[in-house]
Amino acid sequence: MEKIRVGVVGLGHRGRELAKLSAQFDHVEITAVCDIKEENWTKTQWLSSAPLCEMFPKTTFYKEYDRMLDEAGLDVVIVETGADIHAEFCIKALEKNINVLSDIPNVASLKEAEMLWEAAKKSSAMIATGANPNEQKFTVLLKDFYEKGLLGKPYCMEAEYIHWWVPGDEESIHLNENGDWRKLLIPIRYCTHSLGPLLTILEEELRYVSCFGTGQHSPEDTFRVADDMMCAQFRTESGVVIRLMRNGRCRAKIGNHSYRVFGTEGYMERCDYPEKPVIRYNSTRELDTSLKEISGEYMPPAYANNEKATGHGGMDYAMLDHFYDAILNGKPAPISLKEGIAMTIPGIYAEESAKRGGEVIRMRYPWDEDWTTQI
Ligand SMILES: NC(=O)c1ccc[n+]([C@@H]2O[C@H](COP(=O)([O-])OP(=O)(O)OC[C@H]3O[C@@H](n4cnc5c(N)ncnc54)[C@H](O)[C@@H]3O)[C@@H](O)[C@H]2O)c1
Repeated sequence: MEKIRVGVVGLGHRGRELAKLSAQFDHVEITAVCDIKEENWTKTQWLSSAPLCEMFPKTTFYKEYDRMLDEAGLDVVIVETGADIHAEFCIKALEKNINVLSDIPNVASLKEAEMLWEAAKKSSAMIATGANPNEQKFTVLLKDFYEKGLLGKPYCMEAEYIHWWVPGDEESIHLNENGDWRKLLIPIRYCTHSLGPLLTILEEELRYVSCFGTGQHSPEDTFRVADDMMCAQFRTESGVVIRLMRNGRCRAKIGNHSYRVFGTEGYMERCDYPEKPVIRYNSTRELDTSLKEISGEYMPPAYANNEKATGHGGMDYAMLDHFYDAILNGKPAPISLKEGIAMTIPGIYAEESAKRGGEVIRMRYPWDEDWTTQI
């Protein structure tokens, strides 16, 4: 393979950025792109200096995804459609043995999880999960801390993903200009950025969930349809508990991704103060057991001196670098479909638990013997 022939479906904010970032890799060619909104190709978009068609003069634009798959001779499809419609695009590519990088959450229902799991088993192509928070500095350090035995066994963890939101604000308007999925998405369904990093040190699946939602506490809030806040608690079979908070409404810029990890021998946290995120940790296995504090930027340590490493503080670049390396060298997916489903479908069960007033629900996965698409 001289160059990896890449197609991007969904030219919204994220699709545009990943196309531009991918084009920086010498061995990657953006062969084709696809969106039902042609203006995302022909017109200058938010935070862009020129239309994509000028930035990529050799790239073919398609309005129909099936045509792109049939005609463009792709090695890879990057799926960047709205968060509720990833699986059908991934499945179609896998059926044509085209490799896939799917953004998260990678499925929107248990039926989709089953269909995607089966399509991946039948395909000779690879599907990777585009979970960029799994590349961030905190995740890298946490895995290292765990593997060295400094954390001991994790027994309780906490995560929150709080995205501030002011109606009428420029960012909010632009983020919603390509579709309604952000307004419609149930907050707890977007649990992947929170669970993904924590699951990298758990050697078992999350099995039980109980979730509450606040409902909406402001009568004038007609923009969104979902809860102001949702709080879920997950438990594994051996008794590890994860507590997760995800917002719909939040009027303060208080940072996005925070995590706390309690282990039998140590502790690690990332507190996301917007201008000054910090990581703190300690271990009783070290001579100095005091709590240490280091900066908590997203940049993965291995990319800190790479000036090309941009996109969410460098973690997007790291994710693409690992993905293209796997494609070129026939390696397994850096973040597998199994990992992607394990961080996605707890949100589907959590939504159902909230609908049932916090009922504890047992969760199953497509690789379980007692798997079913019924909850
Ligand atoms: N990992 C991250 O850091 C991160 C950040 C932002 C967004 N995301 C994810 O990226 C994805 C895209 O987010 P976004 O902000 O770019 O959304 P967006 O709504 O701006 O873009 C989605 C695009 O998909 C297009 N689309 C919809 N149906 C299509 C179809 N049938 N064929 C072709 N194109 C179609 C829409 O026209 C739109 O332009 C979402 O899944 C989101 O969750 C991830």
